Amino acid sequence: MGKLDGKVCIITGCASGLGKQEAIRFAEEGAKLAICSRTVAKLEETKRICEERGAEVLAFPCDIQVREQREAFVEATIEKFGTIDVLVNNAHNVTPLLPFLAKSLDDLEIEYKVCTEAYFHFCQLCAPYMMDKPGAGCSIINFTSKAAFEGTPGHSVYATIKAGVGGLTRTLARELGPLNIRVNSIMPGSYTDNCDAGLKLQIEEIQEWAKTAFKANPLERIGDPYNDVAPIVVFLASDDSHWMTGQLVDADGGSWFVNG
Ligand SMILES: NC(=O)c1ccc[n+]([C@@H]2O[C@H](COP(=O)([O-])OP(=O)(O)OC[C@H]3O[C@@H](n4cnc5c(N)ncnc54)[C@H](O)[C@@H]3O)[C@@H](O)[C@H]2O)c1
Repeated sequence: MGKLDGKVCIITGCASGLGKQEAIRFAEEGAKLAICSRTVAKLEETKRICEERGAEVLAFPCDIQVREQREAFVEATIEKFGTIDVLVNNAHNVTPLLPFLAKSLDDLEIEYKVCTEAYFHFCQLCAPYMMDKPGAGCSIINFTSKAAFEGTPGHSVYATIKAGVGGLTRTLARELGPLNIRVNSIMPGSYTDNCDAGLKLQIEEIQEWAKTAFKANPLERIGDPYNDVAPIVVFLASDDSHWMTGQLVDADGGSWFVNG
């Protein structure tokens, strides 16, 4: 028996990175999946892997910065599965990490749309299909980052945006709790298949910082998306976490504990 048997789960940003590994884990735990990303070929590859694990999958090309595309994705999910049990707001698009005075309002707008606006809107679109279910009810998981709190140079835009996710999570936990919807945030730490390419876009200072930051934790190793982070997302999606809401969960080998 899987931990997510029969649950209809939406995960954003599944072409690569953590989202892809979350989708694979969810498939292995019996979820019915609605996944999206902009890169169609890569998304289809995630779909193929999940189907091999026995999951029914809707793979929907969607730029989550665009309101109409978010609406179309949720509509297609309802058309295929009839309901929603879990929403994972995972996708993000980090603009280059630069000193504060070098960051632009365009950077702020890009991250606002892909995170603040998209996470908020997906919660609004999905909640009506999630409310008042019996038993453990439904679960929303919003991805944030310890960058929101630790004041790392270069993260002014990312930190501003990700800090808002914590506020959204806490507020929705209180507002949606009476409707039997739990809302939690996760702060992951792991090295994804996009990290090398992403780091090459960053300034030298950030590249140097990253060499040690990924394994600055009590376990002294770099986190793996599939083995280390995805099981914690499964837990938050599953009925096992039914007594948790409004939490900011560190899934980073304890790096916050060491560096905070
Ligand atoms: N990896 C880490 O260590 C880490 C640390 C802290 C926080 N996070 C957070 O975890 C989440 C996942 O991070 P990741 O490392 O896998 O990121 P990533 O950049 O590797 O992958 C992001 C995924 O989102 C998709 N995506 C980006 N913009 C999109 C858009 N406009 N529409 C649809 N899909 C889009 C990408 O195609 C990709 O599949 C993010 O919210 C990130 O901020 C990650």
